[in-house]
Amino acid sequence: MLVLGIESSCDETGAAVVRDDGLVLSDVVQSQIDLHARYGGIIPELAARDHLRSFGPVVTEALAKASVTLADLDVIAVTCRPGLVGALLVGVQAVKGLAWASDKPLVGVDHLVGHILSVFLRRGEKSPEPPTFPFVSLLVSGGHTALYRVDGPHVSLMRELGATRDDAAGEAFDKVAKLLGLGYPGGPAIDRLAAQGRAGSVPFTRPMARIDSLEFSFSGLKTQVAQLVEREGVPTSGERLADICASFQDVVTDTLQRKLFRAAEEQGVNQVVIGGGVAANRGLRARVTAEAEKRGMRAVLPELASCTDNAAMIAYAGAMAFARGDRAGFDLAATSRTSLPQGTRKGRGAR
Ligand SMILES: Nc1ncnc2c1ncn2[C@@H]1O[C@H](COP(=O)(O)OP(=O)(O)OP(=O)(O)O)[C@@H](O)[C@H]1O
Ligand SMILES: [Mg+2]
Repeated sequence: MLVLGIESSCDETGAAVVRDDGLVLSDVVQSQIDLHARYGGIIPELAARDHLRSFGPVVTEALAKASVTLADLDVIAVTCRPGLVGALLVGVQAVKGLAWASDKPLVGVDHLVGHILSVFLRRGEKSPEPPTFPFVSLLVSGGHTALYRVDGPHVSLMRELGATRDDAAGEAFDKVAKLLGLGYPGGPAIDRLAAQGRAGSVPFTRPMARIDSLEFSFSGLKTQVAQLVEREGVPTSGERLADICASFQDVVTDTLQRKLFRAAEEQGVNQVVIGGGVAANRGLRARVTAEAEKRGMRAVLPELASCTDNAAMIAYAGAMAFARGDRAGFDLAATSRTSLPQGTRKGRGAR
């Protein structure tokens, strides 16, 4: 089965052609980072307008790179939730036109399900051997941070075990980077600097370390960095900056890793996966790999291109949804909320 996937939930316009065994035939991502960088964050109206400009060229390029035409496709999949509604709407409405014109079936995909299933994508020789079900997935992206038990490749077979009560891990990376004058998006910059610094040299308190829970909280950690910058100013020395980045990243990745393996233990599963933009973080990848080895468990890490937003993961999730009978009509709507059941109440409970 051949699927065209379309992604426009945030600041990346993506189109990809993927086979239902996970083989990626093409994956085109048009990033809007430069457009939003000068504002230090994403401006929803600018994002929607840029998706509109990019949609046609990105789809044309994805089909050409895969050497297929619309007629060769079995189904078209589009991200319809969660995300910026104006941005999502562009992809959803444009895809209805494509599906109507080519007489192909349409399926709506939850962007988070795409991130969770991104470990199944195969881009080349070095692609990881995919996990088998069940496994526990740590989804760490710009807007979400949560743990899921995954019993199969469909939203109905995924259950949230715990999520963040406030900021997402990626959001914490981005906000801390902004405080440190590192620009947007901050994750890759902190990752780079952390490799040169000394983890633990700046004493940050670990979030939610005192209570036995699979929930996360990162806003307090961000405040700790804000207070440090207030006390000593934005670091001018490269060494100090690297130490702050290394210490911050160490606390975040240690928290993520501990809860991921605690969840796997509680669920009695021996495979863990990660997904989302922060899954590209070198510190997190090394930690998860080492801990799995120590425990005799299997950790599957998506390739870097599969971590941050891409349409290949949407195409694959769409293939799985289509195979289970999901179909969307021309009334498919874009919504800001995920379809995954959410158990964690924002801002609630002891820390
Ligand atoms: N190497 C890295 N280390 C840490 N964070 C990273 C790295 N690379 C990317 N990120 C972070 O990943 C986030 C972007 O990920 P992604 O594209 O999955 O998020 P999103 O699509 O904006 O959010 P969501 O998927 O929740 O809607 C940003 O917050 C970015 O800083
Ligand atoms: Mg994303």
